[in-house]
Amino acid sequence: MPAEPELDALFAVAQAAQQKAYAPYSRFKVGAAILADDGAVYPGCNVENAAYPVGACAEAGAISAMVAGGARAIRAILVVGDGTELVTPCGACRQRIREFAAPETPILIAGPEGIRARFSLAELLPASFGPANLPK
Ligand code: THU
Repeated sequence: MPAEPELDALFAVAQAAQQKAYAPYSRFKVGAAILADDGAVYPGCNVENAAYPVGACAEAGAISAMVAGGARAIRAILVVGDGTELVTPCGACRQRIREFAAPETPILIAGPEGIRARFSLAELLPASFGPANLPK
């Protein structure tokens, strides 16, 4: 688990990204921030589309930013959204996170007031399929 200052940075970066989200159809803005193996924090936000299924989740954007920035591993990821429910990553994003994370990698879920819940990747995506499952 990252130290408190790193968690604060993740929350701040995710909230800033949430404000920039493009969500004119759902009106549900989501922000994400990844603490990567290079020590940098990468932001993402959801980007919707008039062709609804083409929209992208905040987590997918943060993963793209991380890879484009040259990092390869997720140390922690934080997702922030509004409302009373936990904004846990969708199934597809759990698999996207899986590609670059370990079973124990923390997935932190936040609301406007701060972090609400912490899960490991293995809790959200048990018995998952990853790179090592492919034959060499
Ligand atoms: N969304 C995310 O970006 N991440 C999540 O973890 C949950 C859902 C987005 C997708 C869509 O743009 C909007 O939230 C409503 O589902």
